[in-house]
Amino acid sequence: MTTETDAVRMTDAAVAHLREREADHLAQFDEFLRIPSVSADPARNADVQRAAEWIVAELERLGIEQATIHPTSAHPIITAEWLHAGPDAPTVLVYCHYDVQPSDPDDEWVRPPFEPRFEDERVYARGAGDDKGQLFMHLKAAEAWMTTAGRLPLNLRFFFEGDEEVGSGPIETFIDEHADLLRADVCVVSDSDTFDDHGTPGIGYGLRGIAYWEVRVSGPAHDVHSGQYGGGVDNPANVLARMLASLTDADGRVTVPGFYDRVRDLTAEERAAYATLPFDEAEWRAETGVPAAMDGERGYTLQERLSARPTFDINGIWGGYSGAGAKTIIPAWAAAKISTRLVPDQDFREIEQSMKAHLESIAPPTVTASVQIIHGGAPAITPLDHPGIPPVARALEAGFGTAPLFQRSGGSVPVVAALDAQLGLKTLMVGFANPSGNFHAPNEWMSLRNIRDGMASIVHLWAELGAMKADDLRA
Ligand code: BES
Ligand code: MN
Ligand code: MN
Repeated sequence: MTTETDAVRMTDAAVAHLREREADHLAQFDEFLRIPSVSADPARNADVQRAAEWIVAELERLGIEQATIHPTSAHPIITAEWLHAGPDAPTVLVYCHYDVQPSDPDDEWVRPPFEPRFEDERVYARGAGDDKGQLFMHLKAAEAWMTTAGRLPLNLRFFFEGDEEVGSGPIETFIDEHADLLRADVCVVSDSDTFDDHGTPGIGYGLRGIAYWEVRVSGPAHDVHSGQYGGGVDNPANVLARMLASLTDADGRVTVPGFYDRVRDLTAEERAAYATLPFDEAEWRAETGVPAAMDGERGYTLQERLSARPTFDINGIWGGYSGAGAKTIIPAWAAAKISTRLVPDQDFREIEQSMKAHLESIAPPTVTASVQIIHGGAPAITPLDHPGIPPVARALEAGFGTAPLFQRSGGSVPVVAALDAQLGLKTLMVGFANPSGNFHAPNEWMSLRNIRDGMASIVHLWAELGAMKADDLRA
């Protein structure tokens, strides 16, 4: 029987272990970050596989059992477990992803993206924050428990994905087929950020969903002279620009019919909570480099629009001539990648279809438009009254020395809604990356402070949750 003082002593020993081993850990982190596990690039498939193998070797080394690489229709999924804390102890499923975004534009990186730079108390590399850094922190927190106490204070399962950055294609099938490997009382997802860059941790309670398409508008059979044919042949690039511009109106709202039908409105309490959160718009502007915030959807504050309201974006647009000088053509076609961020209770599958139908319906008869659905993921809101929230708050305060604030994130992590819908499993979103740490951008970074305090928080979190009974943790 472990007394309360034992638990405190063991937690402190595990935290002390992390501090003593920091130099070794950073060297290992460097090794992990060097593996270019870019899920979007088929040329990197072997590297994605190598990253999975690196993780499994680590899990085995630190005494986590059944570490398995599961092949999927895309990149592998990793599961592992340590279930020796007894049947009354809670079982927690830890989710992170080991794939990363492409690194381009590479010439904007101070050092190459897969050659980590340790400078200014930060680690710069692709994946430093999103999400290899957070996955690595979980490995080290488990290792600290295993080496100092010889055990974990609760039952842990690990669930690491290699397709998160490309839409989590295989995740639903995997959850259906391997529910037994994911069985837990609650899930902890570490794939988000702290509240600010000044040491305030965050507890996430919402994520946006996403739907993503490629649209192609085709006109003449080949490029034609814009003098000879201009005025007669409709220009696919002009048409595409008009079509996409019409997808948002003067109030900043998406015009696809039915788009807002299922949007759950912010409650008065939630709007009040948003209003009390510290937010420095000038700092936010400086960080992004924009001269001013956009007007966005009328009737909502900037903070609300950044996470609690849906959006529409053109992610890329191309076609026609973009070489040196000028070339006078009407291009044969133009194309765009577009996406919407979704909020509860929008249904991404429904939106995928309604956007496709809408674009096809507004295309004029002078062109043909084709719309391809690329990927989608559901939005999520996790209950703030979940019994796991107070222990998470205590653990974060122990690790960071500051109480966490609650935040709804604007990004998407499809697994969160999928675990709830398919297994009834609730998620606690405990993220450690820096909010201005250049996710998906050149010179991605995470601060050593967030790494240190985050790892300590995880060590505390396992002690906090381990002190509960499994039955008391289920929402
Ligand atoms: N970790 C991010 C999502 C995120 C960012 C959550 C910031 C909270 C705060 C994740 O890796 C991500 O980028 N997801 C994609 C999902 C998409 C490819 C389905 C996204 O949001 O674009
Ligand atoms: Mn991520
Ligand atoms: Mn990401």
